[in-house]
This record gives sequence, structure tokens and C-alpha cells, in this order.
Amino acid sequence: MKNSPSLAQRSLAAVWHPCTQMQRAAAVPPLAIVRGQGPWLFDEAGGRYFDTSSSWWVNLFGHADARINAALKDQLDTLAHVMLAGCTHAPAVELAERLSALTDGVLGHCFFASDGASAVEIALKMSFHHWRNRGRGDKREFVCLRQGYHGETLGALAVTDVAVFRDAYDPLLMRAHQVMSPDARQAGPGESAADVAERAAAELETLLAERHQHIAALILEPLVQGATGMAFHDPAYLRAARRLCDQYEVTLIADEIAVGCGRTGTFFAFEQAALAGQPRIWPDLICLSKGISGGYLPLSLVLARDSIYDAFLDDDVARGFLHSHSYTGNALACRAACEVLARFDDDKVLERNRQQAATLSAALAPLARDPRIENFRHIGMIWAFDVCDALVGPRFAERFHLAGRAHELLIRPIGRTVYLMPPYLLDEALSDWLAQRLLATLNDVLNQTPPDADRPPEPPTA
Ligand SMILES: Cc1ncc(COP(=O)(O)O)c(C=O)c1O
Repeated sequence: MKNSPSLAQRSLAAVWHPCTQMQRAAAVPPLAIVRGQGPWLFDEAGGRYFDTSSSWWVNLFGHADARINAALKDQLDTLAHVMLAGCTHAPAVELAERLSALTDGVLGHCFFASDGASAVEIALKMSFHHWRNRGRGDKREFVCLRQGYHGETLGALAVTDVAVFRDAYDPLLMRAHQVMSPDARQAGPGESAADVAERAAAELETLLAERHQHIAALILEPLVQGATGMAFHDPAYLRAARRLCDQYEVTLIADEIAVGCGRTGTFFAFEQAALAGQPRIWPDLICLSKGISGGYLPLSLVLARDSIYDAFLDDDVARGFLHSHSYTGNALACRAACEVLARFDDDKVLERNRQQAATLSAALAPLARDPRIENFRHIGMIWAFDVCDALVGPRFAERFHLAGRAHELLIRPIGRTVYLMPPYLLDEALSDWLAQRLLATLNDVLNQTPPDADRPPEPPTA
């Protein structure tokens, strides 16, 4: 037994890992995780790691959460899965009803899928097809933001602007219009985040004024462009996008796959588009995934306005939205999601997150002032900063990740952007510990002599 290969070695021999250059994987072998509890992951050697990115932004209430576990065990003994065409089941209906209520009933229909990228495909298809059904088949172009990320399938990549994921497939992709990102870091001297948003909105307006007869939809990540490196923008951009999409008859798609489920402080990030004291405004389609099932099971969905849903109602089958995936509306995943939403109500999650965020922000205050970093930023349950360009050196993200392991952190910077998107269960002791370990990791990495110092920096990956 002594010489039998470890789980990590067997994995490198048999598993093709996602978002990974496998030639490099031996130098950074995967952590062989055998158990999760709360914010902690435990490896086969007994080491523990704080899940700083909630396992790619999916885990909300920690691993092995007692309530979600109990709900899933109950569902497992009742109904694991049944196809959603010609059948329905209580978890899907309850989930759709609850989500509709969260949008004040404005986005009253829920279309289910599995991963985030499939929700993006659905939203793009729905927009185009609904215009076609309304006699506007010439509206077939999409607009996306520079630095945006919407997933890895061909349709989602076509509206993505993260070169390392997109460029190899560029010859295969449909052409989309890209407009200026409202990323607040672009502010010039004396300019505010709202000014940047205004400049970006002006560019969007120019495009829509010229091409709106051919444009079906604008897709954006509200408030935070995640995978590009946690680029934040002012909510004024969302207000402007809503106004322009109304004016030019363009579907507004909010990709809340990463920022939904309370991540930015409100359940939907788009809720922050409303001015204080004014009624909430909504996009036409919302894509949701990741946190909606608490990080347990693959589930995504698209919430749609009645005006879009109604455009598909017809005697002609082909004018319906015939998209499907085998596991669409999986009962186990929907049950987990219902439990997640119940938790938001019962545990006053948004309110408690505000307290947790204040505690971690206080613990991170010294780091925020560290001269080796810039653009320290925080919204809801996301914290990010950029390590100064001159200090990062080659393989920064990889070296930071490895140094983090030694400090019991599972952390994956995006390029030179270090971020925390922890599960929603911080307390003061954990916040202090996290801040201290993050600083220790930064110190270790910046005190290293980087290997291959003459190598160019690697493109950022999430
Ligand atoms: C904003 C956004 N959209 C879409 C996706 C794709 O989701 P999935 O990886 O589940 O396909 C992601 C994944 O990170 C994302 O951040």
C-alpha cells in the first residue's frame, strides 16, 4: 500500500482538469479534498484550507450545511429527477414562484438549465427568438462589455472578452459588438466611478443609436465583472443601460451568475440600479446559477419578463422555446435552491452579511493601506485588490496560490488581482485569522525571488 499513488497522482493520470494547463499541473498538483465542513476543506493528509472563493463562487453557507443536507436527504428519498417536459414537480414550482416574487413578479417565468454558460445561451436565444416571433428577425446582433465574461460555450464565449479563454476559439465565434467597460479603475484624475459609467454609457448609446434595428440584446454582469479580475462599476451604468435598452428596443440581459444570491449586498445585484427612494428597476432577463443551489448541485435558470414569455405563445410549435437539457430543473438541485432561498428569509442573510462584511473590512483595513497594493475595493461579500504591477513577477497567481496553501488558504488570484469571495459565515475571529493569513501570504510571495524572472506575465485565469 505504501507505494500506491496518491489521489492527486491518480487524478493527474486520469482527470483532465478544468481551466488548467495540464503540462503545468504536476508543478501545482491538485489538492485531494476528502471532506468539507463550513468554510473549511480537508485534504487526504489532514491539512485544512479556508475556501476563500467559495469553490468558484458557488458555496454560500459553507460545506456540509446541516439544513441543505437534510433537505437533500429528504428529496433523495422522494424524487431525485424527472424530465421537466410533460412533467413538473414541487421543488421546481416552488423555486420559480419564490424567484418571481423576489422580482416583485416582474420576471414571472423561470426557465431551468444546468450550468451558468447554458443559462447565457438560453438568454441569447430567447432574446433573438422573441424578436423573431414579433416580426423583428433582423434583430440578431448582441452587445457585450469589454472585459466581460459569460462562460465557455461558443455562444457565451462570443459575448466574452477575456482573451485567454476566448482567443483560441475566435474563428468559431459569432461576431458581437463590444462596448466600453464601466470599470471604475479607468477613472482619470478628478473623475469619479459615476463619470466613468457615464462615458461608457455614451459609447453604448452611440452604438445603439446606429445599429438598434439589428441589435437583439445587451448582456452585462451587473456591478462586478468577475472573471476579468473583479472590476467594479457604478450602478449609474445599469440605470443608463436600462434607459437606453428601453429607448432602442433592446433586450437587457443581466448575467447574475456570479453576482446574484446576495454577493453584492442585495439578492440581485441589479436591485442597486434604483435610486434611493425610487421603485426598483429590472432587466428583461436574469441569468442565475452558482450560489442558487448553495454550491451543492449544478443548476442555472433564466428569469424572463412576461412580454418575452408571451412572444412565444402560438399554435405553431416551432414558435415556442424548444430549448432543453436532460437535467433541466433537476429536483434535487431545485430542492437545494429552495432551501437556500428559505435560508435568506429565515436567517436574515442579507442583514447578517452586512455585519459580516463590516467585520472583515475592519480586519482588512491595514492591508487596504499597504503601499504594495492598489485599487482595494469591496462590495457586499466581495473584496479585491491589485498587487502593484512592478512587484508581481512571473507566475504570480500560481505562486500566490501555492503560498496560500502553506497558510491554510485555498486562494486563486486572477492575474495580479487577489480577491476574497468567502462563504457567508464569517465571525470576528475568522475575519482576523483570514486577514492575517492573507497578509502573510502576500509577504511570502513578494519576498520570494520569482523563478524565471525574465518570463512574461501569464494571462489571468479565474
Ligand atoms: C458572470 C458569469 N457568467 C457565466 C459564467 C459561466 O458559468 P458556468 O461556469 O457555470 O458555466 C460564469 C462563471 O464563472 C460567470 O462568472
